[in-house]
Amino acid sequence: MTVKPNSLEELWMPFTANKHFKQEPRLFTEAKGVYLTNHRGETLIDGCSGLYCIPAGHGRREIADAVHKQILELDYSPPFQFGHPLQFEVARRIAAMTPGDLDYVFFANSGSEAVDSAMKMALQYHRAKGQPQRVRFVCREKAYHGVNFGGTSLSGMVRNRETFGPLLAGISHMRHTRPPEHKFVMGQAETGADLADDLQRHAELYGGDTIAAVFIEPIAGSIGILPPPKGYLQRIRQICDQHGILMIYDEVITGFGRLGENFACQAFGVNPDIMTLAKAITNGVVPMGAVVANEKVYKAVTEAGPAKGIEFFHGYTWSGNPVACAASLAALDIYEKEGLFERAKKLSTYFLEQIASFREFGIVTDTRGIGLLGAIDFEPVDGKPGLRGYEMLQDLFNNGLLARITYDTLILAPQFISEEKHVDEMCDKARAAVRRSMNRPQLRAVG
Ligand SMILES: Cc1ncc(COP(=O)(O)O)c(C=O)c1O
Repeated sequence: MTVKPNSLEELWMPFTANKHFKQEPRLFTEAKGVYLTNHRGETLIDGCSGLYCIPAGHGRREIADAVHKQILELDYSPPFQFGHPLQFEVARRIAAMTPGDLDYVFFANSGSEAVDSAMKMALQYHRAKGQPQRVRFVCREKAYHGVNFGGTSLSGMVRNRETFGPLLAGISHMRHTRPPEHKFVMGQAETGADLADDLQRHAELYGGDTIAAVFIEPIAGSIGILPPPKGYLQRIRQICDQHGILMIYDEVITGFGRLGENFACQAFGVNPDIMTLAKAITNGVVPMGAVVANEKVYKAVTEAGPAKGIEFFHGYTWSGNPVACAASLAALDIYEKEGLFERAKKLSTYFLEQIASFREFGIVTDTRGIGLLGAIDFEPVDGKPGLRGYEMLQDLFNNGLLARITYDTLILAPQFISEEKHVDEMCDKARAAVRRSMNRPQLRAVG
């Protein structure tokens, strides 16, 4: 169905420069495989898997058929005190993919909801264990944990927080994991594991037994792909264990194969107690999020409840919605049948070499990457951080590449079905845009 809107005025767009967008709109009208079509009928290559969520490519018939069938068979099932078979099956499939005893899956509808659900789970776990004083959370600068009040409070991206008042109390931030000495390091840096000792300092400052959980994106994604230094996550795990703090991974971007393993915890060999998922859980096609808890957390919460009473007073109208579950099962089948995580792993080396090659440009101040996640920082225009990035986003849209831009950072996160030729196409288009940016008089970095 192609709809041509008669007015752009009424829509208030998320994380968008609304006023400017409405002067120079960027609309997508179709998508298939690794390509999208814009409102002028031009083709763009998808360099960011939509928004890190469509690894198996656009327009997958298997998912469309599964969703269609499910709507006709059972379109909705109330999630509180009732169930339907598909949600148990998705939970079983995810539990089989996770390591260790991360076996209990709670459904939400987005990454933000998953994060807030995980916060509540942590609080209730400690209450069930007789430690209700554990109400603090520790997280990191530059983190992104979604946009609900819990996740906004955990986040460390300044623009996402500054407008919204005092946010939740009892949340403190450790340093991020990209110190200046890691400039141009691709993959995990050899140094910097000691940044994890910030957690120990927070435990000493606030009392380790007041902290409910530490939230970590194994790779800080939205800010521009900050991989953890070698040994960092291991150290965080040790400090958590020492103080009885739950370790929570936000795997909304890294989950489902981005690093070539099912989840980042497997890629890094360090398991959390709880992890949050979303995005690729349905190949991005139907909104869905999940929280996976280990046995210790699930059992503590459920066993503390009465025999016939609700144990966790939390859930959403669309938790485990049958249509989302159908999409998820179809997506998980595709990932498995087509060996897509393995493909992602194979493509990663080539992809990261290409990202690293952007170092040749004078305006590039850092390159980073791991798995199928790569980022390139550009020198901001004096006094106008974000302007170069925004102009590049427009320029790329007009020249055939969908990339993610955060401030003056360009992020590429190819679909797992991409081939080397697609990476070449993305990077050639990005290089041409960098050259244009360098040549645009008003964007020439001053000083
Ligand atoms: C690590 C992380 N957590 C949470 C979220 C929020 O997810 P959503 O936009 O689905 O609410 C995101 C979104 O990009 C994310 O990257």
